[in-house]
Amino acid sequence: MLVSAVVFAGLLGLVQAATYTVTVGIDETDGQPGLGFDPTTIRPAVGDTITFTFQLPGYIKNPSVSQHSATQSTFDNPCTPKEGGFDTGVQSTGSANSNTGSSFDLLVNDTEPLWFFSAANQDCKSGMVLSVNPPITGEQTAAAFVDKAKASTGTPSSPPPSSSASGTSGSGASQTSDSSAPPPSPTATEPSSTNDTSAAVSGMAKMEVVFAGVVAFMGLSLAA
Ligand SMILES: *[C@@H]1O[C@H](CO)[C@@H](O)[C@H](O)[C@H]1NC(C)=O
Ligand SMILES: *[C@@H]1O[C@H](CO)[C@@H](O)[C@H](O)[C@H]1NC(C)=O
Repeated sequence: MLVSAVVFAGLLGLVQAATYTVTVGIDETDGQPGLGFDPTTIRPAVGDTITFTFQLPGYIKNPSVSQHSATQSTFDNPCTPKEGGFDTGVQSTGSANSNTGSSFDLLVNDTEPLWFFSAANQDCKSGMVLSVNPPITGEQTAAAFVDKAKASTGTPSSPPPSSSASGTSGSGASQTSDSSAPPPSPTATEPSSTNDTSAAVSGMAKMEVVFAGVVAFMGLSLAA
C-alpha cells in the first residue's frame, strides 16, 4: 500500500512534465527581435524539458535574421562555455511564417541552477544570458548573473573552437528538423512572456511518461 502510494505520487509528478520554450533572439521586455532570451529566467522541475528555439514568433512579420547561441556556462564565468556543457552552437534566427529556425531540447535532471549565454558576437557582454532555477536570494541571482555577464572581459567574439574534435553540438543537444517540426510551442506566439509560467505541457512527452509511469506502477504493485 505504501509502495503503491509512493509510486502513484511519483507518477503524478511525471505526468506534469512540462516543456519550457525559450526563444533565442527575442528581447523579453518588448517581445521584439533583439539581444535576449525570452524568457530570461525559467524554473523548470526535474523531468521537464527546455526547448531552445531560434524560430521567432509568428506575430513578427519578416524578421531580419540574426545569429545567437544558447551555450551553457557557469555563474562565475558567464561568457565562457562550460566544459562538456550544453551548446546549440551559433544559429541563425528564423521565422514562424516561413517555418525556419532550429530547436534544441535539454532535459532537466535536477533543480540545481543552470546558466546560459549567447556566444555570438558581443551578445554576452550585452547581457544576453539565461538563468535556469537561479537562487532567489543571495549572491547568485538572475540579476547578478546579468551584471556579471555585462562586466565580463572574456566574451568570445565568435564561437570558441571545440577542443574535443566532435562535430556535433554539445552534449544533450538534439536538433529537430526545420521542415518537419511543428512550431515549437503555443507560448512562442505570445508577445509578452510571463517569466516563470510559460510552460506548455507537451502532449506526446506527457503520454510517454504516463505510459512509463503506469508500467512502473504495475511492476511495483506486482512486486509488493
Ligand atoms: C540530463 O541527462 C541527459 C541524459 O543523460 C543529458 O543528455 C542532459 O544533458 C542532462 N541535462 C543537463 C542539464 O545536464
Ligand atoms: C515574474 O513576473 C511577475 C510579474 O510580471 C513578478 O511579479 C515576479 O516577481 C516575477 N518573478 C520572477 C522570479 O522574476
